[in-house]
Amino acid sequence: MTSGQENGLRTWMGDRQPRLLAVTGGKGGVGKSNFSLNFAIALGQLGRRCLLIDCDSGLGNIDVLLGLFAQYHLGHVLTGEATLDQAIVPGPGDLEILPAASGVQALGKATAAEAGRLLKALAAVSQRYAVIIFDTSAGLGPQVRSLLKAAPETIVVTTPEPTALADAYATLQVVVNAADSAHEAQAVIDSVFTVSNRFLGQAPGYLGFIPKDPAVPLAVKSQSPFLVASPGCAASRAIRGLAATWAGVEPASPERADLWSIFRSLWGNATVALRPAASREKVSS
Ligand SMILES: Nc1ncnc2c1ncn2[C@@H]1O[C@H](COP(=O)(O)OP(=O)(O)OP(=O)(O)O)[C@@H](O)[C@H]1O
Ligand SMILES: [Mg+2]
Repeated sequence: MTSGQENGLRTWMGDRQPRLLAVTGGKGGVGKSNFSLNFAIALGQLGRRCLLIDCDSGLGNIDVLLGLFAQYHLGHVLTGEATLDQAIVPGPGDLEILPAASGVQALGKATAAEAGRLLKALAAVSQRYAVIIFDTSAGLGPQVRSLLKAAPETIVVTTPEPTALADAYATLQVVVNAADSAHEAQAVIDSVFTVSNRFLGQAPGYLGFIPKDPAVPLAVKSQSPFLVASPGCAASRAIRGLAATWAGVEPASPERADLWSIFRSLWGNATVALRPAASREKVSS
């Protein structure tokens, strides 16, 4: 993409950019999807409308957590079989969800033309949202690494098990999930800080912790987010607190909140044929 096209895209996307947040974790099964979904709902309850993009092509996706049957998904938007508006499904409250593409690494396999299509579609709707959240897959494949490098804000979810900390130190904010106590969460975060300082010379932020709560697996079984199924449970109280903290602190450098940088990083030199601003409303597919 040329700098002229990039400037054109910025103009086209408008001034009001959503905050872009990647949610990741050092290993599988640490609670990333439950966190992403319930955090997005909690932000919605605070008046921050979210689009949750499920980038995980494996099992246990956001649509499974919600018991949704989605006709279209991210893969259909990439190939042009569906528009973004056709693929986005409503979730609890004012949350909207772009379900995961089926098939391993569908995002990583996208061609430049497909990536351009998705980029244009997302750019066209981005002003509807205060926050766009990317729930990433377990482990760090190349495209997930690129996404994390480019995403302006990253939350890493970790559990108290030591193996879950391996990849946790390179990112901006940490949430300790399924901790037995605040004391245990603090011990985890202390060791993350020690490792980060030793190997990176910097420490991530600590957003807070979510307690281990039997209401979470029960909610998963009933295919309802725990914040909806058990709004008074300990995990729900915690995630509302984390969302309020996160929503209250805007990123220090707003110019980093750049949808384009994520896509440029994911798809390198993808060429996007931009249309003039006058035909903006016609380019949402
Ligand atoms: N705070 C919690 N308390 C108790 N159990 C939890 C908690 N958070 C998550 N779990 C359990 O962990 C399981 C895995 O959660 P989730 O699917 O969100 O993880 P994930 O990191 O997205 O997994 P994957 O790597 O497969 O995408 C859930 O089914 C739930 O039973
Ligand atoms: Mg998941």
